[in-house]
Amino acid sequence: DGKYTVSLIEGDGIGPEISQSVKDIFHAANAPVKWEPIDVSPVFIDGKQSIPPDAIDSITRNFVALKGPLATPVGKGHVSLNLTLRRTFNLFANVRPCKSIQGYKTPYDNVDTVLIRENTEGEYSGIEHVVVDGVVQSIKLITRDACERVLRFAFQYAQDVGKPKVRAVHKATIMKMSDGLFLRIAQEIAKEYPNVEFDSELLDNACLRVVSDPTPYNDKVLVMPNLYGDILSDMCAGLIGGLGLTPSGNIGDKCSIFEAVHGSAPDIAGKGLANPTALLLSSIMMLQHMGLYEHAEKIQSAIFKTLADGTTITGDLGGKAKTHEYADAVIKNL
Ligand code: IPM
Ligand code: MN
Repeated sequence: DGKYTVSLIEGDGIGPEISQSVKDIFHAANAPVKWEPIDVSPVFIDGKQSIPPDAIDSITRNFVALKGPLATPVGKGHVSLNLTLRRTFNLFANVRPCKSIQGYKTPYDNVDTVLIRENTEGEYSGIEHVVVDGVVQSIKLITRDACERVLRFAFQYAQDVGKPKVRAVHKATIMKMSDGLFLRIAQEIAKEYPNVEFDSELLDNACLRVVSDPTPYNDKVLVMPNLYGDILSDMCAGLIGGLGLTPSGNIGDKCSIFEAVHGSAPDIAGKGLANPTALLLSSIMMLQHMGLYEHAEKIQSAIFKTLADGTTITGDLGGKAKTHEYADAVIKNL
């Protein structure tokens, strides 16, 4: 039927409501996407947490998935399913564009940077143990392979989207070996991309500078190890209005999963109050990834128009609209 099948993980809490908005808007925009809902509740195979084989088959077959928020336990319990998904499909690059939304007022109105986060190892390797009572060790694992592929991805991305500079963000003054390796490999890969300028910056300095004035970051793609990217991307999201407004894509060689980075917001789940914008913007990244640029553009401008108009926005943005009223307004603006 000329449609592309996409696996859909609606997620926990507000996940189903915001997924519904995406489905409604895609339908109204005639986006050639057929949703294949999948359940990723963990199963245990040989005592190891895994996502269900049917879900793995679906994403493997469709190459692309859209994902709502999945609740992650704090300090105990199973490994975050979010991470299990990233690891299962080897989604090595996490792309987080951070661009001001015209018409939505924040102290900064011209942010336009991109963060690329290593997505499979580092502090997220999950290798932790108690040495003796009161002493624990968490291992930050850094491998040449993972550094090379995410760095090469970042340079290629910069070249493709026309950002002239790649900046590696690190703390190699302290993490001399792990971040030192990341930084050395960045310098090596930079030689493969003579048209892309390369430099580096310490993480703490980058935090200070980006909140003082984000403008110098606008021509750059920032690339960094896993945990730094987790933190710095939330900080950059804060510059443009928070996690309700920022998309994210987990990219692998074969499959990719596009997701909203915010949590499942159990306190407002089921009440029709959630803001679906982050999931929508992630679905637009997904359409671009699939080469469906016209549909991406059409939906994106309807969202921006709705946000700029400001009469039908959700509570988190200072409005009064219900989730479905906002989605209806976007549909009217298509
Ligand atoms: C993110 C999230 C995840 C992370 C959580 C939910 C496991 O904060 O995508 O940034 O820490 O990577
Ligand atoms: Mn995060």
